[in-house]
Amino acid sequence: MTLPQKVKLVEVGARDGLQNETQIVPADIKVSLIDRLAAAGVTAIEAGAFVDPKRVPQMADTAEVLAGLSRRPGVRYPVLVPNERGMARALAAGAEEVAVFAAASESFSRHNINCSIDESLGRFAPVMETAAANAVPVRGYVSCVLGCPYEGEIAPERVAEVAERLVDIGCYEVSLGDTIGVGTPGKARAMVEAVAAQVPLAQLSVHFHDTYGQALANIHACLEFGIATVDSSVAGLGGCPYAPGATGNVASEDVLYLLDGLGIETGVDLAKLAAAGRFISQHLGRPPASKVALALASAVKSGSGSD
Ligand code: HMG
Ligand code: MG
Repeated sequence: MTLPQKVKLVEVGARDGLQNETQIVPADIKVSLIDRLAAAGVTAIEAGAFVDPKRVPQMADTAEVLAGLSRRPGVRYPVLVPNERGMARALAAGAEEVAVFAAASESFSRHNINCSIDESLGRFAPVMETAAANAVPVRGYVSCVLGCPYEGEIAPERVAEVAERLVDIGCYEVSLGDTIGVGTPGKARAMVEAVAAQVPLAQLSVHFHDTYGQALANIHACLEFGIATVDSSVAGLGGCPYAPGATGNVASEDVLYLLDGLGIETGVDLAKLAAAGRFISQHLGRPPASKVALALASAVKSGSGSD
């Protein structure tokens, strides 16, 4: 199989990453992180979520974050919205792109958004209408595509069905989330193959958490199948408050190093991306969970590399 020539990276650290931190990161630090990511060349950067602030207090300041951004032309700053209320808040805050999120597992849907999969798609209908009326593009997520913390294995056909429904209601892209990071390359590829039978590959993204250390291998398997959009999180920040044990998303620095090594174009500068990762890691008081970031930092210290 041939690899894509270009890959779009969707940076989810400021949302998927920071939503799972016990400490609440101040809005100005989030703004600075997002601005640094944009300066590194990332063109799609999730900026937060308009969900119930009692359930995810880490995202309660998303309006403030959107207000503080130095929006760059050509860069999109999507925010998560679960329902009409979230959509209204997103529009009021000046969001120009949103993402709705469903699951391939009924139990996860209940835990995460307090409704069934069918009900969640019903809640998205008015969101899609408002989005269309305001020319706001909508991305869709399917969670638990390779396993659920409550139900275990998930059939690829189930994932394909939910992904197809998201496209049918108007999502321009669907991100396939291995929420708990249990996937392995053969299963990841089989899942993408099942979804691609219903949804054009060009409209699919992959979103791997790295709980079992398989994320890069999974991404490579999906690239070989023709996937050309990859979600990742700078410094490997991340998790999901409703998926116990799930660790961070695959680190953006690690994905970029892989893509650079394969000669795949992304438009993102690794040194600047790693600097953004160090910035947020310093704020959180721990080293980045990215092997590439650590290697680059030690190469700088020993004088054997550039930064
Ligand atoms: P619900 O309880 O079904 O909704 O929650 P409700 O309408 O009954 O409202 C309950 C309370 O929430 C009310 O407040 C509402 O006003 C408020 P109260 O009367 O109790 O004071 N409310 C809201 N407040 C602000 N903004 C809103 C909003 N909606 C209701 N939009 C709801 C449904 C979805 C809102 C809730 O369950 C929720 O917020 N869940 C959190 C979901 C979440 O953020 N999960 C993490 C992101 S998903 C993820 O990480 C996976 C992903 O990365 C992909 C992957 O890895 O697989 C995307
Ligand atoms: Mg996630």
